[in-house]
Amino acid sequence: MRTTNAAPAMASGVAALVGRLHQKLFGHPFVYDHIRPLAVGGIDMSPVYAALEAGPDDRVLDVGCGTGDALGYLPPVSAYFGFDTDAVAIARARQRAARQPTLNAQFEARLLGPDDLGRLAPTKVVLAGLLHHLTDTEARGLFEMLGAVPSIKRIVTQDVVLLPGRPLNNLLARGDRGRFVRNEPDYPPLAAGTGLRVTRSWVIRCHPYTGIARYLVMTLEPEAR
Ligand SMILES: C[S@@+](CC[C@H](N)C(=O)[O-])C[C@H]1O[C@@H](n2cnc3c(N)ncnc32)[C@H](O)[C@@H]1O
Repeated sequence: MRTTNAAPAMASGVAALVGRLHQKLFGHPFVYDHIRPLAVGGIDMSPVYAALEAGPDDRVLDVGCGTGDALGYLPPVSAYFGFDTDAVAIARARQRAARQPTLNAQFEARLLGPDDLGRLAPTKVVLAGLLHHLTDTEARGLFEMLGAVPSIKRIVTQDVVLLPGRPLNNLLARGDRGRFVRNEPDYPPLAAGTGLRVTRSWVIRCHPYTGIARYLVMTLEPEAR
C-alpha cells in the first residue's frame, strides 16, 4: 500500500498559517497598544525606565522601539532615537511622537548598524521586549556591537520569561510573538564576553498590582575599559 505525506505537510502548513496570523494580529499597533494590556491585566513599565536612569543630558537609543511605548515613560532627554524593523509600528511611533514635539524623537524602520552607533553616540540604551525576538547569535552580536561603543553608560532590557511554578505566566509567554522566549537563567549569559556586564537582573509583574505576566529586567554596564 502506498503511504502519503499529505497529513503532516497539511498540519505544518496550517501551523505556519496560524503563526503568520498570530504575528499579523498581535503585531497590529492597535492590538499591541490596547488589547494586549487587557489580556495581561495591565502594563506599567515604569520600573524598566526608572532603571535606565535617563536624565536631560542623555541620548537614548531604543532598539525594537515598536509603537513608541518608551515615549510614555521617558523624562526629558537630550535626544531619543527609536529603531524597529516593523515599518507599521514605526509609523505609529512617529504619530505618537508628533504629539510630544519637545522630545524631538527620531525613528528608523530598519536594523541598527555599527555606523548608526558612531553617528548617534547614545549614552543609554533600551532593549524593551527585544531579546526574546532574537536568536542567541543575534542577541550576542547586538551586545557585542553595543559593548564596543564608548559613549554607552547603561543598557536596560526587559523580556517575556519562562519561570518555574508560574503556569499562567508560562502559557502567556509561550503564546508570545517572540520565537526565543527563554528561561530566566538563559538571559544574562547572552552578554558574556561582549564587553558588557549584567549589574542586576530581576523579575517584575507587567503591572505592579494587577499584572499576570512576568518579565525579566536586566541592567548592563560596560566592563572596565
Ligand atoms: C515586544 S515588541 C516591543 C516594543 C516596544 N519596545 C515596547 O516595549 O512596547 C518587540 C519589537 O522588536 C522589533 N524587532 C524584532 N527584531 C528586531 C530587530 N532585529 N531590530 C529591531 N527591532 C526588532 C519588533 O518589530 C517589535 O516591534
